[in-house]
Amino acid sequence: MNKTIDTILGHYSVRKFADKALTEEELAVLIKSAQAASTSSFVQAYSIIGISDKQIREKISAIAGNQAYTVQTGQLFIFIADLARHQAILEREEVDIEALSTSEKSLVAIIDAALAAQNMAIAAESLGLGICYIGGIRNDVKKMAELLDLPPYTMPLFGLTVGYPVANQEKAKPRLPQELIYHQNTYQKMDLAILASYDEKIKQYYNKRTSGKRVESWSEQMARGIGQKNRLDLKAFLEKQHLSQK
Ligand SMILES: Cc1cc2nc3c(=O)[nH]c(=O)nc-3n(C[C@H](O)[C@H](O)[C@H](O)COP(=O)(O)O)c2cc1C
Repeated sequence: MNKTIDTILGHYSVRKFADKALTEEELAVLIKSAQAASTSSFVQAYSIIGISDKQIREKISAIAGNQAYTVQTGQLFIFIADLARHQAILEREEVDIEALSTSEKSLVAIIDAALAAQNMAIAAESLGLGICYIGGIRNDVKKMAELLDLPPYTMPLFGLTVGYPVANQEKAKPRLPQELIYHQNTYQKMDLAILASYDEKIKQYYNKRTSGKRVESWSEQMARGIGQKNRLDLKAFLEKQHLSQK
């Protein structure tokens, strides 16, 4: 249709990168692209920490479950929900900071950070770079916060590893049929027959991608993943950071 749409529709996560740092020019354009994203009421409530130090990358990789593509990559960015700047401004202006501790303000910061990250991801892919989000950093948010010296009113959300892809066979992973995602006017109950055909499609996708080593439907993957309670330390961490308390 056009180059932007082609880039968006051609997305797949890259998990093997050349051992080559992004150039200063690439870094600058990626950060600028991230910052161009819409931001709720202009709050710009996020920070991005670029991790070029290999030792810190190794530590982050260990937290994230030894994901090698966080170490051998062009750059590893960590996206932080960040209301610390707002705390400083409110204190300077002698405005009560209690509002910063509400769930609404945490959500605003998390949404802002996610929009900025996805802008960066698309910009990177448009330059022929590969990307992969790294939610694994939330395996130990406390350790991440210590490692990155995070102040109160901040939370590490996810990493984004960006680099020069090493040639691979990956193809865009088929998404849910539009009928299950896009609802006309009001919410529609899920059509189980459509789900069943998608499950079959995903089974075939994994079968082909892994040469038969993994044959799993989308429903099976969800039951194994999102059906499990995990990272139960997040609530206490948010409270410690003065976030999401009301
Ligand atoms: C917030 C977020 C966190 C993710 N965390 C990881 C991760 O820790 N490790 C990983 O290999 N992929 C991670 N992914 C990538 C997803 O697994 C991937 O986007 C999904 O399976 C769809 O595949 P695709 O991106 O190739 O289309 C993450 C994606 C998102 C959006």
